[in-house]
Amino acid sequence: MKNIEKIIAGAKMVLEDNWRFNHTLPSPKVYPFQWNWDTAFIAIGYANFNIERACGEYRSLFKGQWKNGFLPHIVFWDEAKSTEYFPGSSFYDFSRSPNVPKTISTSALTQPPIHAFALEYMYSVSSQDQRIAQLIKELFIPIFNYHSYLYKNRDPKHEGLIYINHPWESGTDNSPVWDDILTSMKPLVPDYDIPALRKDTRHVNFAQRPGNYEYQCYLFLINLFRKQNYDDAAIFENTPFAIQDPLFNALLIRSNESLIKLSGLLGFDDKKDEIRSWNERSIRQLNTKLYDHEAGVYNYFNLKSGKSINKLTSSCLIPLITGAPEKNQIESMIGLLTGSEFSGEARDLFLCPSYDSTAPDFDNKRYWRGPVWINMNWLLIQGLKRHGHIELADRIIRDSIDLILENGFFEYFDPKKEQVSGEKHGYGSDRFSWTASLLIDLYYNHLKS
Ligand code: DGY
Repeated sequence: MKNIEKIIAGAKMVLEDNWRFNHTLPSPKVYPFQWNWDTAFIAIGYANFNIERACGEYRSLFKGQWKNGFLPHIVFWDEAKSTEYFPGSSFYDFSRSPNVPKTISTSALTQPPIHAFALEYMYSVSSQDQRIAQLIKELFIPIFNYHSYLYKNRDPKHEGLIYINHPWESGTDNSPVWDDILTSMKPLVPDYDIPALRKDTRHVNFAQRPGNYEYQCYLFLINLFRKQNYDDAAIFENTPFAIQDPLFNALLIRSNESLIKLSGLLGFDDKKDEIRSWNERSIRQLNTKLYDHEAGVYNYFNLKSGKSINKLTSSCLIPLITGAPEKNQIESMIGLLTGSEFSGEARDLFLCPSYDSTAPDFDNKRYWRGPVWINMNWLLIQGLKRHGHIELADRIIRDSIDLILENGFFEYFDPKKEQVSGEKHGYGSDRFSWTASLLIDLYYNHLKS
């Protein structure tokens, strides 16, 4: 593949430019702090060429962990940047909770629990580097405490399935999955002056970001949680938004599996039984409650309405990273990936769009409503390889690399292969950290070998 060495050098440069004293910014203008699941995808890239950074990145994220095990989605390292991002630390006012860390401010939402899986992966691609082993020793209990927090506080019916309380907790902020719930919240949502408050649209075309009404809802929910002093039981009682999400739960299951594997290796055997019993329940419920036999794919469950949400997103395929799906379930998901939904009528789409391309509300430019995201591709590649679907994994690797080579290190990409010449098909932030870091990982671990 021509130019690839040059592009890898460019990817390392992006990470270098986005590095600030103890963490890497997802992108300096739009996301000027440390983000939770970005940290994992960024550290995975670093584990291939700069282990000190990979470890530093992770140690910094966990400095933001709350006393009850909660792991926030943003750590606000540089308060001076607070005027450049909205909603910043003052909007969250997280100190209303008795659980917050003393020395650093954070958000009060979380993100998908990828960390044990990421650390196990980093340990393996670094050929079991002792510095990563040491990092895992330090973070094993904090991650165990985070999972324990989730099972205690986000699983009110003790089903083994965790609910998210905000679209931002899914990692797929403006997915069409949330539309109906957000619309039904209308009478509750106050009229914030969103265009004046938002900072993201100063840097990214509005047509590529969530809409203003969605932002009203995002703020309304944070405000509601703030009023409950971030007490989970009170939030559950009062929130209109409580969703069991297939991506969040699949990553939790995959991370539990990693904790079980790592526990023996690192001398945390006493936790194994508890993690196993969490995971058995979670896998059973993922495969029953969240599995839609008719559609042949995992879906979402709205705990407030007591109903499933049957919109087809790439999150619905992420359970492939676990051992949960049976052969027929895997085949049916492969059918969707290679069918018109994700590959296009005439195979005219790059894999993998974030939303069903045949749906009327598919939007090839707007954030999580259609564009391809490299982190989702990376997860799908791991899942497909796990289940022996190497050819399809290779196709996703090639598509990911082509998109980056043609467009640059964008945050997300247009899935449409046929493009108007001269138009850029990378959207959102340019020089986006996880696009760069995951390209580095794809190069070292999936192309070179
Ligand atoms: C943003 O700011 O757009 C994030 O996705 C939410 O933290």
